[in-house]
Amino acid sequence: MIKIQNLKKYYGKDLVINDVSLEIKKGEIYAIVGHSGAGKSTLLRCINALEEYQEGKLEVLGLDVKNLTQNNPKELINLRKDIGMIFQNFALMNRKSVFENVAMPLRVHYTSSKFYSKLFKKAYLSEEKIKQRVNELLDIVGLSNKLKAYPKELSGGQKQRVAIARALALNPKILLSDEATSALDPNTTKNILELIAQINAEFGISVVLVTHEMEVVKDIAKKAVLLEHGQIIGQGAIDELFLKPNAKMKEFLGESEFLPKNGINIRLYFPKEIAQNSIVTHMARALNIDFSIVWGRIEKLNNTAVGNLVININEKDKQSVLEYIEKSGVLWEMADE
Ligand SMILES: Nc1ncnc2c1ncn2[C@@H]1O[C@H](COP(=O)(O)OP(=O)(O)O)[C@@H](O)[C@H]1O
Ligand SMILES: [Mg+2]
Repeated sequence: MIKIQNLKKYYGKDLVINDVSLEIKKGEIYAIVGHSGAGKSTLLRCINALEEYQEGKLEVLGLDVKNLTQNNPKELINLRKDIGMIFQNFALMNRKSVFENVAMPLRVHYTSSKFYSKLFKKAYLSEEKIKQRVNELLDIVGLSNKLKAYPKELSGGQKQRVAIARALALNPKILLSDEATSALDPNTTKNILELIAQINAEFGISVVLVTHEMEVVKDIAKKAVLLEHGQIIGQGAIDELFLKPNAKMKEFLGESEFLPKNGINIRLYFPKEIAQNSIVTHMARALNIDFSIVWGRIEKLNNTAVGNLVININEKDKQSVLEYIEKSGVLWEMADE
């Protein structure tokens, strides 16, 4: 669906996308995460062909974007039709009603005049059909009652719903979201993400979520890349990124570990199936040992818990503890190494 291979993009001499490769499959919800300035928005603009790139290959819906941009303006218009986009600042037309905001892509892509349709060879869509489609879209986002309202009369969450309806107007196959929830409060953020997940499930639209907050998207995205200074510094399934964060990922999540110097620190990884079992307390009882939990992270991801825990034990208990852990099926490693 979206295939990026060794992409490089410069602004002047500045390399802002540095050898990025990733693949987003049909129907996936994929997160691109990173601090401000990492190159997330630039990458999105490359995907929808609003931005040129200098090296590498970028294929969207089976089409080579560079080739289209240079040689095939007609196909480029079709590609853009297949990609809807939403933004942090909503980008609504403030002087137009909700109805007209949502109708806008239809009016740009089609004409409701048979005369113009013939004259300019532009696809025809009757005013009646436009009305029908806009109503359908407002129904999907739950704003049927705001048809005649103006953006200034809406809350942030409602404005983003209008923007989502507009982004879906031409039946896109891909929805790009550039920090779409960053201006919203946590509750509204949750509702908007639920709507996006519902749209993904119902219409099979692939979603690319750009965000500077991994926390925000971890419940709905299945895969993610972590971007820093234009480079990918972490990539994979979200539960694995959280379960076994590399050093960069830990830094991004704002975690640092201070492990005790005495005794032995063992890191345990709890995969989905056994995260909620109280293996550690059972072990302490079964072996009759003392231990302390010196670091931990349990995450709720896509409704299952995964975790990563560091326990500190006495040197003398090492052998029996490791045997017990091995038997339990929990993954482990020595935490200091
Ligand atoms: N139009 C532009 N011209 C020059 N530099 C730009 C332009 N847009 C973005 N940049 C630079 O490219 C880098 C990546 O920016 P951006 O993609 O907006 O990051 P993010 O969306 O992750 O915050 C930044 O260093 C930014 O200053
Ligand atoms: Mg940005």
